Amino acid sequence: MTMRNKYRKPTTFHCNAGSRCSPSAVVWSLVGFLLFLHLYSLVSHNGGKGGDVQLHTSHHTLFRELEEVEEETIQIPPPKGKRSPRAAKRRPKRSTTLIDEFLDENSQLRHVFFPDMKTAIDPMNDSGNDSLNYFPGRIWFDTEGNPIQAHGGGILYDESSRTYYWYGEYKDGPTYHAHKKGAARVDIIGVGCYSSKDLWAWKNEGIVLEAEEANETCDLHKSNVLERPKVIYNEKTGKYVMWMHIDDGNYTKAAVGIAISDYPTGPFSYLHSKRPHGFDSRDMTIFKDDDGVAYIIYSSEDNSELHIGPLTEDYLDVTHVVRRILIGQHREAPALFKYQGTYYMITSGCTGWAPNEALAHAAESIMGPWETMGNPCIGGNKMFRQTTFFAQGTYVFPLSGLPGSFIFIADRWNPADLRDSRYVWLPLIVGGPADRPLDYDFGFPVWSRVSIYWHRKWRLPSGWRGLK
Ligand code: DGJ
Repeated sequence: MTMRNKYRKPTTFHCNAGSRCSPSAVVWSLVGFLLFLHLYSLVSHNGGKGGDVQLHTSHHTLFRELEEVEEETIQIPPPKGKRSPRAAKRRPKRSTTLIDEFLDENSQLRHVFFPDMKTAIDPMNDSGNDSLNYFPGRIWFDTEGNPIQAHGGGILYDESSRTYYWYGEYKDGPTYHAHKKGAARVDIIGVGCYSSKDLWAWKNEGIVLEAEEANETCDLHKSNVLERPKVIYNEKTGKYVMWMHIDDGNYTKAAVGIAISDYPTGPFSYLHSKRPHGFDSRDMTIFKDDDGVAYIIYSSEDNSELHIGPLTEDYLDVTHVVRRILIGQHREAPALFKYQGTYYMITSGCTGWAPNEALAHAAESIMGPWETMGNPCIGGNKMFRQTTFFAQGTYVFPLSGLPGSFIFIADRWNPADLRDSRYVWLPLIVGGPADRPLDYDFGFPVWSRVSIYWHRKWRLPSGWRGLK
């Protein structure tokens, strides 16, 4: 058969020796094949294995509560200052939005985003029914009654001590601007570490990597920047390895730093900083895969794209392998996780300390190609969803025993007083069809949806600990 098309050269399809196919037969076979692939992909993504189907049932019962959407109705106060009706007619004042209120430290709504001490979560003094409950945005005390200082952090589950460790930026110092136009900052104090058995009551294990007070040439000198520390354990070397974003006060060094310890509680010895693969590197994370291979993911080329590449076996360096992903998408704050062989990632946009819309991405291979699936946030209200619940992601922690269930860990930055930045922990669930067919022409492969559910108050399912 010869197809005539003004854009194409004539093509002839031969079905088998001596016979020829009609155009409709070719089209229908193609449609049939694509349909088959589509169904296959659906089955393999949604619990094709017998065991998974069972887990899905119990998972749904346990997580029904978490998937119930909580709405927020917040009245925006009238604009400040009285305006005569004439003036209002002449130049109608732009009505303020919730995000304006969030960014205004004198807003009457301040308590909505940054509830005061009276509402703090105190694991040692729980008079009501709040035990084990997360309250996104409230002050969260450690077991000594001090606000937890672990911003831009991540969580490590240590098999040998059966303990969770939460590492993050210890920011308990004054916020200032180094230059008139410089971003708000706190001097480096170090990396804070907290331990817990239940992911709710956290004991302060101290500063496990400390700032340098005197030597200005040191990466860890207090005038520099240390952000987004993450720790993984290397089974082969028996070492705990920390990677972090290291920068100067103007964010021009754009490097990663590496530190190492024999114990999860440190002290960590700082090794050095470097530009991974020779590229600028700002927001970053590391991810340890099931096969023990660890990867670094960092924002590069002035935050316009992400780079991903495996670490060496000892996790102390990058290899020569690197791929550019999400090119031109300007994403930062990457948080990577895996479910049923598919890799997922949540990222934020690049707006300094101000919140913006999160996006979920998925990939069959960790090295890409990565596809963008859309905004994973559910509930609250439109502005809550467009601002990642007024927060920025930092880590996604898998709940062992509850496949497809994770905790999304985010920072609600307070640029006026960074030490008073809050934590937003919410359930993240992978399941159900994605919202849109994505970049591929025929919608292959079909990713599962990633959903982060807003809750003013929530707790892990009571059976969860028993499931480990
Ligand atoms: C956004 C990043 O995600 C944070 O880690 C921090 O670097 C701020 N920018 C600084 O403005």
